[in-house]
Amino acid sequence: MSKKIVVYFTYTNNTKMIAEKIKTKLNCDILEIKTVIPYSEDYDTVVNDEQNSESSNHLPEIQNINIDLSQYDEIILGTPVWWYRPVPAIRTFLTRNDLNDKIIKPFATNAGWLGKTFKEIKSLCPNSKVEEGMDIVFQSYSDKLVTNEQDLENWIDTL
Ligand SMILES: Cc1cc2nc3c(=O)[nH]c(=O)nc-3n(C[C@H](O)[C@H](O)[C@H](O)COP(=O)(O)O)c2cc1C
Repeated sequence: MSKKIVVYFTYTNNTKMIAEKIKTKLNCDILEIKTVIPYSEDYDTVVNDEQNSESSNHLPEIQNINIDLSQYDEIILGTPVWWYRPVPAIRTFLTRNDLNDKIIKPFATNAGWLGKTFKEIKSLCPNSKVEEGMDIVFQSYSDKLVTNEQDLENWIDTL
């Protein structure tokens, strides 16, 4: 059986909620990616700062990962969508780790504007087997799920 881990970043906990759900259902390991410099607690500040740096492809430093990723065959990868892209910390994670030959199953939480998130994940790890992503929509500024709950459960059952 292949060994799996859920890797995710979260700012307002929607992605964390989904990641924890997957971890519980699959009984697998979980890893939260955190930036070295934390984001402002003021939501609008983060939205504006990130819009300003959106096109820069910056890779913020992330905290050390105290897990040996080589032991996993599959990464279930969760990112919020920030300005139509995967969050910068997930871009750092994908760029800085050897994920060659691993299966990557992405999911993206967002408020309905997914943009090029999954395309970009694919292009950041060209030597991984990136599967079709799961688009998980929440109401804007809220933790209320818009995506059909049963569709979500059905997707988790495929993992
Ligand atoms: C900086 C920033 C940019 C965002 N950009 C988008 C976007 O481009 N498209 C979208 O649908 N939602 C966008 N959102 C909303 C988040 O993607 C959505 O609330 C997500 O579920 C948050 O995940 P989290 O709670 O795990 O941080 C943005 C939120 C923030 C903070």
